[in-house]
Amino acid sequence: MTDVRPSPKHSVQGGPPEADGVLHTLFRSDQGGHEQVVLCQDRESGLKAVIAIHSTALGNALGGTRFYPYASEEAAVLDALNLSRGMSYKNALAGLDHGGGKAVIIGDPNQIKTEQLLLAYGRFVASLGGRYVTACDVGTYVQDMDVVARECRWTTGRSPENGGAGDSSVLTAFGVFQGMRAAAQTQWGEPTLRGRRVGVAGVGKVGHHLVEHLVEDGAEVVITDVRTEAVERILARHPQVTAVTDAGVLVRTPLDVYAPCALGGALDDDTVAALTASVVCGAANNQLAHPGVEKDLADRGILYAPDYVVNAGGVIQVADELHGFDFDRAKAKANQIFDTTLAIFDRAKADGIPPAAAADRLAEQRMAEARAAAGA
Ligand SMILES: NC(=O)c1ccc[n+]([C@@H]2O[C@H](COP(=O)([O-])OP(=O)(O)OC[C@H]3O[C@@H](n4cnc5c(N)ncnc54)[C@H](O)[C@@H]3O)[C@@H](O)[C@H]2O)c1
Repeated sequence: MTDVRPSPKHSVQGGPPEADGVLHTLFRSDQGGHEQVVLCQDRESGLKAVIAIHSTALGNALGGTRFYPYASEEAAVLDALNLSRGMSYKNALAGLDHGGGKAVIIGDPNQIKTEQLLLAYGRFVASLGGRYVTACDVGTYVQDMDVVARECRWTTGRSPENGGAGDSSVLTAFGVFQGMRAAAQTQWGEPTLRGRRVGVAGVGKVGHHLVEHLVEDGAEVVITDVRTEAVERILARHPQVTAVTDAGVLVRTPLDVYAPCALGGALDDDTVAALTASVVCGAANNQLAHPGVEKDLADRGILYAPDYVVNAGGVIQVADELHGFDFDRAKAKANQIFDTTLAIFDRAKADGIPPAAAADRLAEQRMAEARAAAGA
């Protein structure tokens, strides 16, 4: 274990701005701060990791392990703090009995990821005795979780050969489709995309399954992807689907629904100003480029289905795996994303706030109720 100290070039009084940010997020944030943050170091394997537990109000903290070459250790800690907080909200609204946690491993996975390092990481997670349950995230894969699981029973997102549920994109796409149906119900009075024009930006693992649901439901689908082979795979299967050159063109194409399914930050000021769609609902994480975008969308009459609500199928799957994976049981849980998304739109209307803010309120309510029940 190690600690993070201000580097000598900074004065202790006031401290470096990054460290202030870390401590503020950890202890004094208006979201109530985090329960526990663990800094891990294994000199032999070169492992440096941060495990952040935001909340265990609803149960053991669950969230993936991000393996990423952070610019600094402070940046890694801040990312772990933000991501773990996000997992508390996501798990709460997914109806899971799990709190929020997340871990980050510092470094380029292509250069430093070894079996020895993953085993050392597994021992650190195991040392928390189940308070934190880990899974895949950016830079980690089911095969990595198979290795971590050799040292740590609180590991999920493993391969089917090792008792895991494998690729989570099937249920993620199913959940996004349920969220989209709820948005259609709210915006047009019917829970179907039949006859609607839906633009999907990014037809990778999740996006291509989403296209299948949309085609089956009778939607007209327009796609884009930076990888030609991903586009061609869909056009070969569904000749009625059309493709455009890039996401900038897609948002300006006449659409009813825009589904960002590639990277984060898809909804920036320019995109929101250019959008023709009156519903946004997609799989990508962190779609809102900065605070305030949710209000801009609402002001333009665009119904935004909060990303962390509709893309919860993946975490629902890894949570189910902890009980011996049952696809039908997990799918039934992911189906509830329809009702949850509707409830968020209703709350947003009743409180006169954007859906993203309503989602946060509902999640906070569930966590507060659990804390109150535990204290009772
Ligand atoms: N896989 C899951 O279960 C899951 C769960 C929750 C959230 N998500 C989020 O959903 C998104 C998609 O995940 P995925 O697993 O399908 O990833 P993926 O890498 O398989 O697919 C992403 C696709 O987007 C394309 N892309 C990248 N930049 C683009 C751009 N500028 N314009 C158009 N296309 C672009 C890529 O070529 C790729 O085909 C990510 O933001 C991910 O974090 C995924």
